[in-house]
Amino acid sequence: MSTKPDLRNQVALVTGGTSGIGRETALKLAEYGASVAIVGRNRKRGRKVAKEIEARNGDGWAELYVGDLASKDNVRNLAAEFEDRHDRLDLLVNNAGTFRHQRSETVDGIEATFAINHLAPFLLTHLLIDLLVESAPARVVTTTSELHENGTIDFADLERERDYEDMAAYSQSKLANVLFTDELARRLDGTGVTATTANPGFVPETAFTREASIRGRLTLGLFSILPLPFTKSVEEGAETVIRAAASPEYDGVTGEYFSDGDVAESSDESHDAEVRKRLWDVSAGFVGISPDSLDF
Ligand SMILES: NC(=O)c1ccc[n+]([C@@H]2O[C@H](COP(=O)([O-])OP(=O)(O)OC[C@H]3O[C@@H](n4cnc5c(N)ncnc54)[C@H](OP(=O)(O)O)[C@@H]3O)[C@@H](O)[C@H]2O)c1
Repeated sequence: MSTKPDLRNQVALVTGGTSGIGRETALKLAEYGASVAIVGRNRKRGRKVAKEIEARNGDGWAELYVGDLASKDNVRNLAAEFEDRHDRLDLLVNNAGTFRHQRSETVDGIEATFAINHLAPFLLTHLLIDLLVESAPARVVTTTSELHENGTIDFADLERERDYEDMAAYSQSKLANVLFTDELARRLDGTGVTATTANPGFVPETAFTREASIRGRLTLGLFSILPLPFTKSVEEGAETVIRAAASPEYDGVTGEYFSDGDVAESSDESHDAEVRKRLWDVSAGFVGISPDSLDF
């Protein structure tokens, strides 16, 4: 990054900050001076990361929220607790994500990949938007994947009940991240809050494959130890998320997709206005909010 960001007195919330790309992002934001709250299910790992954050951010603080974002109630509780404790939020990084070899449903009875990767960021962002707008300039960054390019939004079977295929479910959820962000950016126009997506690239050394098939885990395990030109280290992968989240170079940049550390072109379907609007309305129905609650 050409200019080192100064995030002193700024507050960031990073979901999936207990591991991998989210952990690396949280630590870097702390290094830039931000107070950082992280969200994850694993308390032990989370506590360790919170301590690492505290060791880096001078006068800033670190907080751990333990909860499963698969549950709408948990997302609501997280937002309520955060709002109770804080009067500002400068940066929301929707990074928690999952890849499920087998179809499973959340406590709310929704297919887990769609719920965790798309509906949780959709709901959390809605719930924290007033705080973000009050803190503007502020940024919302959602971690997507290059695999969004293979995705398609199957409105007839969003939850993949008929024919579950892990890669199709994952790619759909990551395309949903890009479509959601595009619509969010449009709705936030003029508020000073920007919305972007970041593709970290292929980072096989994270814990991301924990719910993948044995074959998938073995393949990625192998990829993580071989010096392959198409893989990235956690630090390299997180760099794109961090740049989208904090680089002064991108002040005011909104509605964009970042890849390899810079603004890039997302897939054709991610630019489809009809799909974008329809997904927004359907998602609002899933999480039980008005599709118009984000009109500024
Ligand atoms: N690794 C890659 O090659 C790659 C490529 C493109 C995009 N991505 C994206 O990068 C993001 C981070 O993945 P990663 O590779 O860093 O994997 P990771 O090491 O497995 O990290 C995933 C994070 O998400 C959290 N998480 C997962 N499910 C959750 C849930 N239901 N509720 C709350 N937190 C949850 C995990 O926390 P706990 O375990 O504590 O719950 C963990 O902190 C994901 O959105 C993924 O789609 C990864």
